[in-house]
Amino acid sequence: MAISVNIVKRVDILIKLRQNHTMMLETAAAKNILVLHGPNLNLLGSREPEVYGSASLDEINGRLSELAKDAGANLVNFQSNSEAELISRIQQAIRDTTDFIIINPAAFTHTSIALHDALAATRLPFIEVHLSNIFARESFRRKSYFSALALGVISGLGARGYYLALEYALHTR
Ligand code: DQA
Repeated sequence: MAISVNIVKRVDILIKLRQNHTMMLETAAAKNILVLHGPNLNLLGSREPEVYGSASLDEINGRLSELAKDAGANLVNFQSNSEAELISRIQQAIRDTTDFIIINPAAFTHTSIALHDALAATRLPFIEVHLSNIFARESFRRKSYFSALALGVISGLGARGYYLALEYALHTR
């Protein structure tokens, strides 16, 4: 009798551990998604296509909007070359209905504590995306101020990185 009670307890503990683990890995499916693009990403398509690919920012944003619409979600794209504008847009997400952020901070990845702090202030889950593999390039690109705060990081998969991040945001429960 005592043995079977112990087994039941252990199974119960294992189930709870698994539930906690699942909760840590997964966020609720997002409905209002903000996609942020940092400096020089407006030049995508013509900017070093051998590094960043041939898709323009309009093409990437168009595909993201299409995927979100098909899933019944709202998606807003915002690109800026200015750190201040990006910070203001992130701060706006504290007050509006944004529930998930996908961000390619571009060169600010390696420099901006201010953008990191703005994202931290939102307390929203976000995925950091890079078209190129920042770990396989110059050493100054290997440091990211965002990765430790991000839910996940996708780097080196080109424009697909954005679509995969969106897929995660849309379909994870
Ligand atoms: C980038 C990588 C950064 O190092 C660079 O400054 C960018 C783009 C990428 O998407 O691969 O502008 O974030």
